[in-house]
Amino acid sequence: MDNKYSFEEIVSHLKTSGFVYQGSEIYGGLSNSWDFGILGSFLKKNIKDLWWKKFIETSPYNVGIDSALLMNTKTWEASGHLKGFADSMVDCKECKSRFRADQLIEQATGLSAEGKTSEEMDKMIEDNNVVCPNCGKHNFTNARPFNLMFKTYIGTLEDAKSVVYLRPETAQGIFVNFANVARTSRKKLPFGIGQIGKSFRNEITPGNFIFRVREFEQMELEFFCKPGTDLDWYKYWVDYCYDFVKKLGINEEKLRIRPHSKEELAFYSKGTSDIEYAFPFTDWGEVWGIADRTDYDLKKHSDYSGKELSYLDPETNEKYIPYCVEPSVGVERLFLMICCDAYDKEKIGDNDERIVMHMHPAVAPVKACICPLSKKLSEPATALFNDLCKKFHCEYDEAGSIGKRYRRNDAIGTPFCITYDFDSLEDQCVTLRDRDTMEQKRLPISEVKDYIKKALEF
Ligand code: GLY
Repeated sequence: MDNKYSFEEIVSHLKTSGFVYQGSEIYGGLSNSWDFGILGSFLKKNIKDLWWKKFIETSPYNVGIDSALLMNTKTWEASGHLKGFADSMVDCKECKSRFRADQLIEQATGLSAEGKTSEEMDKMIEDNNVVCPNCGKHNFTNARPFNLMFKTYIGTLEDAKSVVYLRPETAQGIFVNFANVARTSRKKLPFGIGQIGKSFRNEITPGNFIFRVREFEQMELEFFCKPGTDLDWYKYWVDYCYDFVKKLGINEEKLRIRPHSKEELAFYSKGTSDIEYAFPFTDWGEVWGIADRTDYDLKKHSDYSGKELSYLDPETNEKYIPYCVEPSVGVERLFLMICCDAYDKEKIGDNDERIVMHMHPAVAPVKACICPLSKKLSEPATALFNDLCKKFHCEYDEAGSIGKRYRRNDAIGTPFCITYDFDSLEDQCVTLRDRDTMEQKRLPISEVKDYIKKALEF
C-alpha cells in the first residue's frame, strides 16, 4: 500500500516531540527498549482507559482483574509455554550473527519452514545452500530451540527450584483465576475476564520501533461461554474489536480482518482472525488477534493443578468446561497504528506547512491548550486553565506567537487551542480553534467544558 510518509519520518517525529524516548539513552540505550515520554505516557494511558471502559466497565458480560507478573512455574508447563514457546535459532560461525532459522530459510528460499523441527530446518539450510545475509558465507551452527520466556530466580538461591519466568502473556493469569472469579463475581456464563498488564518475550528479531518489543503491555479478554456457542461469540468479538479500531477513526482502507488459514491455526483453535493495519514498514501488520481457544487452557490447568475448573449450568444442571474466545491486543501496537494513521503534513497558504496528528480526541495526550493572547491576560487565563484541568489534561502556553502555539499543538494532536483575549474580559467568551479544520469559534467560557466533553465521546 502506498504510504504518504516514511516510517522513519513518523518515528523521528514521535521521538523529537516527546512521545517516545530511547530506553536508557544516557548509557547508549538498551537494544529495542523504549520509554514513553511526556506525551506517550498520556496516549498509552488513554488507550488503556478506553479499552477498560469498553471491554470491562460498560460491558454487561465482563469483569476485570490484575494478576501477578510472576507465576508458579507449573502455569507455564500447563500452558505449553515451557515446551512449545521456542524459536529455533542458528548462528553464523563466521560473523557470529544470530538468526531465527525459519526466517533465514524463508528469506533465502521463499520456502515456508513453519512447523518444521530444528533438524528439518538444518536440512533445508543445507539442501538450499542458504548463506548468511550478513557475511554471505554458508557456515551455520545446528538450529536449536530458544525459549522466549525471560528466566529469573525467586528468593536468594539461584537453583532449579527457584526458577520463575516473567509472564509472556497476561492470559494465563486469567485462566488460573477462572474459579476465583466465577465464585466471587457470581457471574453466569457467558462472561469474560479482562486485564491489562506487562508481558515479556525475549524476541530474537524485535524491531520496527515499538511494533515488536521485548517488554510490552497487553490488553486481553478471556471470554468464557458454553461449548457450541463459541463460534457465534468469536464473530461477536471480532466485530467488537474491529468496531473499536474503527471508532478511533483509523482509515479503513488501511485495515483488514484476516482469518488464519488451516495451516496457521493452533491445533486447539477453531478459528483465529487478526485485525491488521497497513503500517508504513510492512504490507500488513497484526494489531489485534481474536482466537477461539476452545476448552484447551482450562482443561490443561485443571489437569496440571488437579483443581475442578468446570462450570455447573444452573439452568440445565449440565457440567462442562467452558470454551474460551480471546481478543488480545498490545497497547504499543494500537499506539503505533494511531500515530501512523494520524500523522500528516499540510500546506498552509503559499509558503507555510504544518505537521498535524489527526488522532481521536479521546486518545489525544493533551485535550486543550489555553493560550492567552497577551501575558497581561495570564491571571484570568490561568484561572480558566485551573478549572479545565480538573476535567481534562490541558496545557497552558503563553510563549511565542499564537500561530506558533497552534503549530506546536497541531503537531502533538491537541484537538483544541483556546485563546483568551482582551474581549474575553468583557464578554466572558473565548475562541476555540479546531485542530483538524483550523476553524475558530467564539464560545462562552461556561460552555467550554461541555463542548470538549462532547468531542471526547467514543
Ligand atoms: N494470549 C495471546 C497472546 O499473548 O498472543
